[in-house]
Amino acid sequence: MSTTIPNTGNTAQNTTPTKPNKGGLEGIVAASTAISKVDGTAGRLIYRGYDIHDLARSTSFEEVAHLLWFGHLPNKQELASLRSKLAAERSIPDGVMQTIRALPHTTEPMDALRTAVSAWGANVITGKPTIEQTIALTARFPVFLAAFQRLRHGQEPLESRPELGHAANYLYLLRGEEPKEEHVKGLNSYLVLLSDHGMNASTFTSRIVASTESDIASSIVAALGALKGPLHGGAPSKVQDMLMEIGTVENAESWLREAISGGKKLMGFGHRVYKTTDPRAEELREMARVADPTGFVLARRVEELALSLLDELKPGRRLYTNVEYYSAALMNSVGLSGDLFTPTFAVSRCAGWTAHVLEQVSNNRLIRPEAEYTGPMDLHFVPLNER
Ligand SMILES: CC(C)(COP(=O)(O)OP(=O)(O)OC[C@H]1O[C@@H](n2cnc3c(N)ncnc32)[C@H](O)[C@@H]1OP(=O)(O)O)[C@@H](O)C(=O)NCCC(=O)NCCS
Repeated sequence: MSTTIPNTGNTAQNTTPTKPNKGGLEGIVAASTAISKVDGTAGRLIYRGYDIHDLARSTSFEEVAHLLWFGHLPNKQELASLRSKLAAERSIPDGVMQTIRALPHTTEPMDALRTAVSAWGANVITGKPTIEQTIALTARFPVFLAAFQRLRHGQEPLESRPELGHAANYLYLLRGEEPKEEHVKGLNSYLVLLSDHGMNASTFTSRIVASTESDIASSIVAALGALKGPLHGGAPSKVQDMLMEIGTVENAESWLREAISGGKKLMGFGHRVYKTTDPRAEELREMARVADPTGFVLARRVEELALSLLDELKPGRRLYTNVEYYSAALMNSVGLSGDLFTPTFAVSRCAGWTAHVLEQVSNNRLIRPEAEYTGPMDLHFVPLNER
């Protein structure tokens, strides 16, 4: 597999461009990072040295955000300080609220979030990305989303509750009632699991924008655009649609066989880097089993059949369950509607995106690859009035 040199920093080690042997930059090392490592063969995900399984079971989103941003897990004092800084930023500037209120109620929440972040940037952001801006923006993601979601359902946005953590406050802002402990726990683990993932498409996008010395809001708006597509973060609601369409265990095999044979991609399966089960899917599977034992029966049977049929009909492609498959079940179980699945992924990934923006600007070099030109050369130019 061909690789190129890391792009960050200013040390050019090789001036001969390397051509990717497959499309989509597969196998190309596009940056150096100390934030997270995806080992696609062993099925491991590491955040700054810590295994995702350890973090998912026993940390809060705020602890993991601290880890991603500052490079170490916080002690109690550092955690309390970060929590209070996040809580202090949970407001919506007037100019941004006007923009959110002006959106049609038919707008998808993911588009509303992207628009709110852009409006926030236009209203308050100047200068280079900073840790203060990172905290201010991450704190606001759930606040923007919940405000829009309530408005589109004819309800007024609520004030945040400073004593609640990130996950609990998000659920409170959406529903206006004390969130159940098991919902907060489930959502918190989800936010931990999804908060960073190596050089995925949206993170790469955020770093490209940061590398031009643009501002943090522009980097994160661009990342939101990249996350939205179904090949990246847009898959969970489509997993839910697929399970609803399949409907029963009896219907599963024929539905799946027909879909794969007809060239459809099964949502929640396959991954560019993991050639074994995604470790986040293992955590989410167990959480989904506990949260909704009845719904889990169909999801698990469809998963087993899909894996066996993918092996039969797509031999050698090494297609396994990815993070999105059980994300839908988990988010459903904590009471989030399908239109909030992808933006809730963004609530989590904002921590990773902003960590990568800060890392990029700390040792920046413009990200500017080359393209292989495949068009014609040396054509004879004919002026307009002679064509
Ligand atoms: C994630 C994903 C985009 C990775 O794509 P990729 O690395 O570009 O893989 P490719 O599209 O090159 O797929 C390689 C082969 O596996 C097949 N394949 C990949 N994912 C598949 C899926 N979910 N269902 C059926 N076949 C799949 C492709 O059709 C292709 O088959 P071919 O060799 O016969 O042409 C892809 O697996 C996918 O679209 N999955 C479904 C969407 C999803 O779950 N997205 C969330 C990702 S976390």
